[in-house]
Amino acid sequence: MDCQHILSSAQFSRSDLDRIVKRASDMEEILLAGGTKICDGKILGALFYEPSTRTRLSFETAMHRLGGRVISETDVTFSSQTKGEVMEDTIRIVGGYADVIAIRTKVKGEAKLAAHYSPVPVLNGGDGAGEHPTQALLDLYTIAKHHKIGEEKLKVSFVGDLKYGRTVHSLVKVLRHYEGVEICFVAPEVIQIPDEYLTESDKIFHELHDEVVTQSDVIYDTRMQKERFDDMEQFQEVKNAFIFDAEIVERMKANASILHPLPRVNEIRQEVDTLPQAKYFEQAQNGVPVRMALIAEVLGL
Ligand code: NCD
Repeated sequence: MDCQHILSSAQFSRSDLDRIVKRASDMEEILLAGGTKICDGKILGALFYEPSTRTRLSFETAMHRLGGRVISETDVTFSSQTKGEVMEDTIRIVGGYADVIAIRTKVKGEAKLAAHYSPVPVLNGGDGAGEHPTQALLDLYTIAKHHKIGEEKLKVSFVGDLKYGRTVHSLVKVLRHYEGVEICFVAPEVIQIPDEYLTESDKIFHELHDEVVTQSDVIYDTRMQKERFDDMEQFQEVKNAFIFDAEIVERMKANASILHPLPRVNEIRQEVDTLPQAKYFEQAQNGVPVRMALIAEVLGL
């Protein structure tokens, strides 16, 4: 990796990805055996200035399972930032208390800014509509568990809010390292994938075309990111654009996977949860070994 921080998926080389996937798999075994103490004496600072369940709790669980401890700030209204402290100062201070910081902010680019001022490694847990690189790694890990990524052809279709969905932005960059991956983007025009993430070989759809449903190996579904729309009328127009129900999923390949970073709102009906293609709860579970691997990695352990 070209820096001690994890800020964007663009920083990973193929060998980084291979190493992290392997390490996460080792961590999964360690978890089964009851955890480890390699982070004994170390502290994770979790600064989450946007709602989070999975990302924060899996970072915290990961640190606990590594034998370390956690300090956290989860609501900016309780932070000195409401007294006028600038984020740069908060980071300098928390970097003096903790050995590694996981941060989630509302503003694209702010994790990078935090890293600039931090004396310890910063892990970007989502910066506005920017990126979510640790999520992309757990997504990759989940795909690699179920599919021969890089060895066989793999059709991956991203569905939903591709404009504001930061997990999509980060995962797309990761998938570019693997041969044989064909990418489709399925979204209404107003929330289609931004040009910066697009390549010429990608396919664009505005509807859940039959080809997407029946030929995808992985469908990566996402929530409409209501909080990031400037125009609520636009949100109302797209909020029910795609809804996966059992009838649609039964038309998918039997060995296909449906992933979703969660939380879901209405885009996947609960009746899908028990179908073999539904992998999103397992995906969320994979956040723990993957984040254990990442914490160990940035701490040089
Ligand atoms: C995602 C996020 O925060 O970007 N959730 C997550 O981290 N698992 C997706 C979302 O909020 O829709």
